[in-house]
Amino acid sequence: PSAHLTLDPHFTVGVVDRRVFGGFVEHLGRCVYDGIYEPGHPTADADGFREDVLALVRELGVSTIRYPGGNFVSGFRWEDSVGPKEKRPVRADLAWHSIETNQVGIDEFGRWLDKAGSDLMYAVNLGTRGVLEALDVLEYTNVRGGTTLSDARIANGRTEPYGVKMWCLGNEMDGPWQLGHRSAEDYGKIASQTAKAMRQLDPSVELVVCGSSSAQMPTFGAWEHTVLEHSYDDVDFISCHAYYEELGGDTGSFLASAVNMDHFIESVVATADAVGAALKSTKKINISFDEWNVWYISRYHEVDRITDIEEWPVAPRLLEDSYSVLDAVVVGNLLISLLKHADRVTSASLAQLVNVIAPIMTEPGGDTWRQTTFFPFAITSRLATGSALELKLDSDSYETAQYGTVPTVDAVATHDAEAGTTAIFLVNRSIDAPTTVTIDVSGLGDVRIAETHLLADDDIYAKNTLDHQDRVGTTENSTAVVTGGTLTVTLPAVSWTAISLV
Ligand code: AHR
Repeated sequence: PSAHLTLDPHFTVGVVDRRVFGGFVEHLGRCVYDGIYEPGHPTADADGFREDVLALVRELGVSTIRYPGGNFVSGFRWEDSVGPKEKRPVRADLAWHSIETNQVGIDEFGRWLDKAGSDLMYAVNLGTRGVLEALDVLEYTNVRGGTTLSDARIANGRTEPYGVKMWCLGNEMDGPWQLGHRSAEDYGKIASQTAKAMRQLDPSVELVVCGSSSAQMPTFGAWEHTVLEHSYDDVDFISCHAYYEELGGDTGSFLASAVNMDHFIESVVATADAVGAALKSTKKINISFDEWNVWYISRYHEVDRITDIEEWPVAPRLLEDSYSVLDAVVVGNLLISLLKHADRVTSASLAQLVNVIAPIMTEPGGDTWRQTTFFPFAITSRLATGSALELKLDSDSYETAQYGTVPTVDAVATHDAEAGTTAIFLVNRSIDAPTTVTIDVSGLGDVRIAETHLLADDDIYAKNTLDHQDRVGTTENSTAVVTGGTLTVTLPAVSWTAISLV
């Protein structure tokens, strides 16, 4: 098989917003406790945060981090998580059938973010709470001082306001599993009221209204339309959530997951623009793809939940998927899809960050290691700067059970005119054959290859585990050459490649 691409630095889609490389930390399983926070660990700092995990988080290059949920947030009282630790309530977390000790809250997480070099994206509870509590937490985080809650923050040790910019107006409010699940009408109204109130307190906030929990939801499309009819003028983003998994051995469809993501994004953009057009608005609503990943959710649904509340554990091992090379190629392709839509997808969060469907794993008292999915994320986050480019792509195709005929190769490029760098990200979705790709790079002038990275393995199910932490990594793609304005590279079957040109 073969493919041909034409790259021209003038054909820009949009500036790559750093917030596209966001992450997600939910109070779920061992993401927080025994994940980022483990006071007894040999690498724990004075605040109880694992330095070995922090080092990997920095290497991963996550920008904004969504917190504290997820489904968790719809039963959460934010004020439980501030003030003296010994006085914080212990609560039942109805979303994950766990016990929440509240030993990590806004102020601890704020300190951790400073160490990680990431920004906070805070989700308010619009499931079991409302406008007032959203205003309260905004007052706590963003008001300088002189009010009860901002002074409480100062008394708790944080003098400067956090200045949190990104706020999620609840989580997955279309999902029947969500505490306080609402109809699109009801949610659209409360989202609009909350947004208006929050802007009165802090006009600089950027607000994300909940879209659908997945494109497979029966209300998908109608939900976005109704919610935006109520909230269009009040919000900046609408969220998308999508998880993919290999089902029934259908590797071909799984490898084409990004085709579904492309369609999902384009459908939500079309819906938002239709609402905007009907409102005669010139404003555009962007997408915050604030939960995306590979997640073997069908396996999670097979596990029996602990029903007796007295047996609910603290920080159990939940959703601890172990990722293969195949999964990482799909993750690399999902990043390509996000970048291809850089004009409208200006925020995204890989769900999640540590232990829970995560690129980083930890063992209590022991090691931390990179999952396979760590590599495409870290490399794309580092190399994709400047603007995303629209590529002219001619590729062979293959048949899939789920998505029909799809291109075998998918790719995107970014161009940073200031730095004088160009990055190209490619996947080969073929299960059994390498593909040689020729790329017309003559529009870039005289360029040379600065670095290449290849993720591929004879065993596409190879993984990194506690016992084999470095089984999978990236190598160079030594087939890449530039001659006479043409870049040629061979992509092995089921592989992801990144090439940086200077
Ligand atoms: O990321 C895991 C869960 O997936 C989140 O809590 C929820 O928002 C989604 O359904």
